[in-house]
Amino acid sequence: MADRVYIFDTTLRDGEQAPGYSMNLEEKMKMARTLELLGVDIIEAGFAISSPGDFESVRAIASVVENATVASLARALRKDIDAAWNAVKEAKKPRIHLFLATSDIHLEYKLKLTREAALERVRENVSYARSLCDDIEFSLEDATRTDLDYMCQVVQTAIECGATTINLPDTVGYAIPQEIMNMVTYVRKNVKDIDKAVISMHCHNDLGLAVANTISGIQAGARQVECTLCGIGERAGNAALEEIAMLLRTRHDVLPYETGINTKEISRSARLLSSTTGVKIFPSKAIVGANAFAHESGIHQHGMMANSRTYEIMTPESVGVSQTSLVLGKHSGQHAFSRKLAELGYTVTKEEEDRLFAEFKKTCDRKKNISDKDIVALVESTEESNAQIWSLESFVVNSGNHMDSTACICLKKDGKTYKDVAIGTGPVYASLRAVEKIIKHPFSLDDYQLQAVTERKDALGEVLVKVSDATGTYRGRGVSTDVIEASILSTLAAVNKMLTESESPMAKGRSASQMSFENDMLLGHTDKAGL
Ligand code: KIV
Ligand code: ZN
Repeated sequence: MADRVYIFDTTLRDGEQAPGYSMNLEEKMKMARTLELLGVDIIEAGFAISSPGDFESVRAIASVVENATVASLARALRKDIDAAWNAVKEAKKPRIHLFLATSDIHLEYKLKLTREAALERVRENVSYARSLCDDIEFSLEDATRTDLDYMCQVVQTAIECGATTINLPDTVGYAIPQEIMNMVTYVRKNVKDIDKAVISMHCHNDLGLAVANTISGIQAGARQVECTLCGIGERAGNAALEEIAMLLRTRHDVLPYETGINTKEISRSARLLSSTTGVKIFPSKAIVGANAFAHESGIHQHGMMANSRTYEIMTPESVGVSQTSLVLGKHSGQHAFSRKLAELGYTVTKEEEDRLFAEFKKTCDRKKNISDKDIVALVESTEESNAQIWSLESFVVNSGNHMDSTACICLKKDGKTYKDVAIGTGPVYASLRAVEKIIKHPFSLDDYQLQAVTERKDALGEVLVKVSDATGTYRGRGVSTDVIEASILSTLAAVNKMLTESESPMAKGRSASQMSFENDMLLGHTDKAGL
């Protein structure tokens, strides 16, 4: 049997800490469930000490994950280790992931520690973490710029103190594959107890080599790889999970390693990440971009028709992109609709199916053929509107090229209808102003994206918005054949989340403790933590 490579997913930690990718607790839980279905071995759920919100999400994820190990990141400090342990200890398989930088540049300028003092810190904190938890990962931050002999000393010490996984990150995305190969080979040769731990790779993509470096690490003997969906992460991101998984599958002839990834779940997982964060997947993104399996040129199409292997090294089906031509329309019954949902990988309750079917029928009245992409957009936007405080009853918009736009909107709350009118320079602006007047809760619009779900003229319009108030930023999504309606629906989805949050008694407490955490970080975090 081929060697097993463990997939350590850090979408919810290294990925989530990148600008634009933050998720709330509910979104992180949903993502964690999806990662389990995808078959990752370890879910790094967050950095428990970094904020009360992070602590809560790690704890919540630890309590729902069934099969995967749940890890929390911690600096090599007692208070971090305690927070990490408290957050993961209820998991079926908990892990504490400690890190300390070991390169001279980090030791001298960031940590202000000698090599000896850092080694002592590793000894003390890995031992302490191991006294709490049997599964300990230790990362040598900036490993690829660390002196190799010192690296071996640190690795041996960490293993002696109980580390079961040793991670050698390319923190700044600086290394090339040959250097990774040399580093891992050197550590395997020169660390006496290296066989007592799993070696892990964690590569950043600053020079576009994260996946290549990760593969090189595997070839040299690493058996855990750290990665994120769509490669999201700090700066240029981390190694992309889907690329590693498909590389190992497609080039099994030269990379004879197994993972537990169910590749058919890849497309759906990437879509969920995109719809949750509101960040679109770049069309040319390997494996999950919209063009990843599209063949435009005549020569390619001709070859594909003769034999798909001429230009296709992996099938769309292998990553969960269905190629079925079964298009639904107004005569399709609930049975066909239900089959289609299952085919697209959705498991819904009867109640949800009824609601979705009603939405589907409404769309059929306006649009003749409903494609898979339309159904995916409907399902995902209906999920958005589950927690409704305000819902849209009706609207009329008047707009033209030589006049301001006017929007008259009727919203419903607790069975009562509320109506208002507003003027704006465009129909969307006028509509959002009317919404704001009705709900009597000012918000700002931070981002607005409109796109067609399919390529045809009768395509559904999908709008993604980000709105914010003092409690935070909220995303919403709306889908309709009418782009103004999609704009109002997406705004209401976001506003409903905002109102739920600002009305929750925890909101004030949370922002107070977040502030005190931020003060802690600002006021002498460096001195206290020694970082
Ligand atoms: O990039 C890095 O070095 C990290 C560590 C904390 C593992 O993210
Ligand atoms: Zn990282």
